[in-house]
Amino acid sequence: MEKIARTKIVDLLERKDYGAIVNVKGWVRTRRGSKKVAFIALNDGSTINNVQIVADPAAFEEEIFKEVTTGACLSVNGKMVQSQGSGQKVEIQAHDIEVLGVCSSDYPLQKKGHSLEFLREKAHLRLRTNTFGAVFRVRSQMAYAIHSFFQQKGFVYFHTPIITASDCEGAGQMFQVTTKNLYDLKKDSNGSILYDDDFFGKMTSLTVSGQLEGELGATALGAIYTFGPTFRAENSNTPRHLAEFWMIEPEVAFNEIQENMDLAEEFIKFCVKWALDHCMDDLNFLNEMYDKELISRLEGILKEDFVRLPYTEGIKILEDAIAHGHKFEFPVYWGVDLASEHERFLVEEHFKRPVILTDYPKEIKAFYMKMNEDGKTVRAMDVLFPKIGEIIGGSEREADYNKLLSVIKERNIPMKDMSWYLDTRRFGTCPHSGFGLGFERLVLFVTGMANIRDVIPFPRTPNNAEF
Ligand code: 4AD
Ligand code: MG
Repeated sequence: MEKIARTKIVDLLERKDYGAIVNVKGWVRTRRGSKKVAFIALNDGSTINNVQIVADPAAFEEEIFKEVTTGACLSVNGKMVQSQGSGQKVEIQAHDIEVLGVCSSDYPLQKKGHSLEFLREKAHLRLRTNTFGAVFRVRSQMAYAIHSFFQQKGFVYFHTPIITASDCEGAGQMFQVTTKNLYDLKKDSNGSILYDDDFFGKMTSLTVSGQLEGELGATALGAIYTFGPTFRAENSNTPRHLAEFWMIEPEVAFNEIQENMDLAEEFIKFCVKWALDHCMDDLNFLNEMYDKELISRLEGILKEDFVRLPYTEGIKILEDAIAHGHKFEFPVYWGVDLASEHERFLVEEHFKRPVILTDYPKEIKAFYMKMNEDGKTVRAMDVLFPKIGEIIGGSEREADYNKLLSVIKERNIPMKDMSWYLDTRRFGTCPHSGFGLGFERLVLFVTGMANIRDVIPFPRTPNNAEF
């Protein structure tokens, strides 16, 4: 076969130089036709759209078409012509077809319309479907948007460690990292495991958040953001939790809670606008197939100011709803950690737009948050979104050394792990704030998918670490 430089299908479909001889490579989505003419829909992953290959079977060896089955990989040379009816402006009249890889007849994606549950079990192949092609192109664009946003603002991309000896959120949901022989653990006389002979000479885990090290970065570089994998061994089998997820954590010196909220709102709107500006082919497909309100919901986010509401007011609204007959599965009272149903009620039914809930009871939030004057609440802020619930969690940080130290003692956080963190408050402390955006929750929102397992290529959840 004559060697012609490959054109990606996304570029080909934009071209207007009809008559040009081109080469495309990709995987067969469908083949139909008759003895007189064959139509092959080819996709190379560069776009949701296929290019139609038209071939006259008489002009080819018979053997070739036996191998052009769904899933087979082809290289096609041919003439680019204006299309009559394929839904695209361009198609290719093939004069040469090479089968780069035949596809075995037990290929699981023969037919269209497999359920998402079925495809989850075939996560290594589901990437080849329209749905997952769209989702992962959008996911990639969201990563690009995030870096663009912070780089434009002069934030420093700061890499925090994945292996750590501290539990940032203090929730004890960490995966341990060890090279010890688990069948022969060295223990002290009380039966506690000794780690002095372990790889790091102490107990270590996978990080649940890069925030504490992020604060070290912000109080030196001014404004940083992290963007990396985080791990939580929380046994919550929900459509919104993963054991391994990606988080973006900006941290800014001198920002107080108001500026932190402004940043979060601007950031998330920037990402949503980016999706509308760069991913319309994929969003149109997802809107059509999964969520008819997707695009209008995304546009809606850009128009509205987010509601800013103290937790205490939020509880009143929920209690009021209950008094008027609304039923929740979980109880509502001041001090409760809100469930997703409560968050979604505030956003979807009460305000009908995103809500930033602030000033939570200190007992249900992490140790590092700045105490309010009331002594009961802390300067926390959770951004609550339609369909998602909590998409961002953040706060202004406690900058006062003595106040922070007393919380650390109150909560029995081992001081030997915290001295480096407390040093930020001893050596030129300053007000500072930050937040964490769950990357997959953003991708869930932007794609309109319903299950977080469908927006990360290879999800890690309880009892599932396949692929
Ligand atoms: O609210 P979280 O636990 O906050 C922190 O980790 C802070 N250290 C962030 C900061 O202030 N720098 O987590 C932040 C966000 C949540 O709002 C949620 O979007 C996401 O991370 N998240 C998860 N996403 C998927 N699966 C899980 N198990 C998640 N846990 C949290
Ligand atoms: Mg949170």
